[in-house]
Amino acid sequence: MRTTERLILRPFQDTDLDAWAALNSDPDVMRYIGGPLTRAESDREAAGINAGWEAERFGFLAIERAADGAFLGAGGLSREVWYPDTLEVGWRLAREYWGHGYASEAAAHWLAYGFTELKLPRINSVTDTPNERSIAVMRRLGMTFDHTADLDFDGESFNATIYSMTAEAFHVI
Ligand SMILES: CC(C)(COP(=O)(O)OP(=O)(O)OC[C@H]1O[C@@H](n2cnc3c(N)ncnc32)[C@H](O)[C@@H]1OP(=O)(O)O)[C@@H](O)C(=O)NCCC(=O)NCCS
Repeated sequence: MRTTERLILRPFQDTDLDAWAALNSDPDVMRYIGGPLTRAESDREAAGINAGWEAERFGFLAIERAADGAFLGAGGLSREVWYPDTLEVGWRLAREYWGHGYASEAAAHWLAYGFTELKLPRINSVTDTPNERSIAVMRRLGMTFDHTADLDFDGESFNATIYSMTAEAFHVI
């Protein structure tokens, strides 16, 4: 378990799965990330995340609000197909928890973890170009625009915006 000022970052628990499935079935939340998931897909993703964390010590962990134990969503580091040599930092919160800085707070922890504990040389963040809220999180974290590219997700092409941060940049901010 890891903590930030307001948050607890930890593997998924069975008691998260209803709230995780609810946010994964919300078209607003899933608009830029492949569309709503079924309950089975949502459960499978949580199980995969926990297995990945056990095996590799990185992944998209659950985000819990320390004050009241509310399950907010998930965030963390992941390896995606398009840039397999560079881990990505990412975030996904239930709609009702947008607008409080929770995604940025969790992600700042995962950047620090990636650079100081995993000793990564660089971390990317990749989003569908119209996903302005996600790009705003990248900027808030101090990541900088890297490039755009047409990437493939489940057989469909999308225009991605890629921000990045190097270990050198992390250690001076
Ligand atoms: C992307 C996503 C996580 C961004 O959520 P968010 O709430 O906008 O981002 P943060 O949690 O960092 O919150 C920032 C907002 O909280 C406000 N805020 C309030 N208190 C704050 C605090 N203590 N610290 C920082 N920001 C704070 C900021 O001003 C900002 O508000 P604004 O958007 O009105 O300018 C959210 O939109 C989401 O889950 N989207 C669906 C999934 C998705 O697309 N994920 C990305 C895939 S690449």
